[in-house]
Amino acid sequence: MSTDEPSDNRRTFLTGATCALFAAGAAGVAVPYARSWNPSVRAKAAGAPITVDLSKISDGSMVVEEWRGRPIYIIKRTQKMLDSISALTTELRNPNSEDEQQPDYAKNDVRSIKPEVLVIEGICTHLGCTPKFRPGKDQGDFTGFFCPCHGSKFDFAGRVYKGVPAPTNLKVPPHYFADDNTLIVGADSEETA
Ligand code: FES
Repeated sequence: MSTDEPSDNRRTFLTGATCALFAAGAAGVAVPYARSWNPSVRAKAAGAPITVDLSKISDGSMVVEEWRGRPIYIIKRTQKMLDSISALTTELRNPNSEDEQQPDYAKNDVRSIKPEVLVIEGICTHLGCTPKFRPGKDQGDFTGFFCPCHGSKFDFAGRVYKGVPAPTNLKVPPHYFADDNTLIVGADSEETA
């Protein structure tokens, strides 16, 4: 018999030891795994989707909500704002949203499910300041979102301009519409909420 091959007794021992180790490993892993799927009520509430009543937002204005500690901008865009989005393509760094800054359902010309409702995170993609909403020319030459920290500019779809420090478009969080006037932020659909 080759010395490389274990005897029956040794084979039995090795098999048993391997099973025991696997069982011990599985038991060791099972506890934190189970814990990770049973977050505390508080943790769950902190990450839970939020509901936004869209009927309270007037055309052309923005409200700010909070989800997972991040400011979420919800804007009811006017037709004029939407027209300005399509006119800007050559001035933008990533007009077609070719990065991972939005869910698939917001990877379109206006970066939204409904053209008139934009949902984005109010966190500048340069160093994390809060961009200001500039809906009209009365607030300066620029309209869209302007980050005062280092001058990054984004259009009314949250797409970043060329030649500014921010590298990417503003992020679109997961969201869906429960009905015409009810927006849910933090889940892609009722099934995942
Ligand atoms: Fe916005 Fe730097 S953090 S431009």
